[in-house]
Amino acid sequence: MEKRFGTNTVLKDLNFSVARGERVTLIGPSGSGKTTILRLVMTLEELTGGYIYVDGQPLTYEDRAGRRVPVPKKQQKALRTRIGMVFQQFNLFPNMTVLENIIEAPIHVLGQSRKDAMSKAYSLLEQVGLPDKADAHPLSLSGGQQQRVAIARALAMDPEILLLDEVTSALDPEVVGDVLNILRDVADSTNVTMLIVTHEMGFARDVSHKVMMFDGGRVVEEGHPDQIFTSPTHARTQQFLSAVLGES
Ligand SMILES: Nc1ncnc2c1ncn2[C@@H]1O[C@H](COP(=O)(O)OP(=O)(O)OP(=O)(O)O)[C@@H](O)[C@H]1O
Ligand SMILES: [Mg+2]
Repeated sequence: MEKRFGTNTVLKDLNFSVARGERVTLIGPSGSGKTTILRLVMTLEELTGGYIYVDGQPLTYEDRAGRRVPVPKKQQKALRTRIGMVFQQFNLFPNMTVLENIIEAPIHVLGQSRKDAMSKAYSLLEQVGLPDKADAHPLSLSGGQQQRVAIARALAMDPEILLLDEVTSALDPEVVGDVLNILRDVADSTNVTMLIVTHEMGFARDVSHKVMMFDGGRVVEEGHPDQIFTSPTHARTQQFLSAVLGES
């Protein structure tokens, strides 16, 4: 696939695949294209070249007899419901309560009954340690609490693919561990495919099956986390990891 912003090509000839249930961590310097990749998969950015397939189906563009044509909107929408994303800045709907944030998409996108959506929401709030915050407004919550709501909101859609973009980077250090533990539990207890962008290398090492090192929109190196974190082959990966691990 290819992604240009104007004349700036940020992803060029990028080609990789992620297996069902696989958890892949994307690392690399600022500006290397990690967020752009997640946003393309979430269809928040327009893909300017190539294709993305989910479960073998084209997500936004397809090849029809050698022509690159947009996928019909209805089909795009159906595939998109199988993908969830959690952002660095939570992105909760500030005008809705916690409960409303969580049940909105299950009701309006998946067509669940309010009753079913609510009962699932309460159990998710329990799971993320916020059983008493259903009626709170997001802005009355701490950052860590807001992020736990955002995780519950993503899980409420039962996603097959979960995209996590630096979900602990905006949090106070003392609550980072709680949020990571919730995600570890999700990783352990479900078969959800995860694409993770994080600077939490311990977490990345524990939960991911594969680590991909990006630089300038390309994959410099990829491998098992034990290999990447202990004996990276490329100088660029070594430099990057010593900078990241050195500061923490
Ligand atoms: N909306 C946009 N308009 C123009 N350029 C953009 C836009 N979003 C990203 N870019 C550019 O695309 C490149 C990749 O950005 P991206 O946000 O994907 O990097 P990143 O690896 O997530 O970096 P960071 O670690 O700082 O979050 C950068 O050069 C950035 O300036
Ligand atoms: Mg980013």
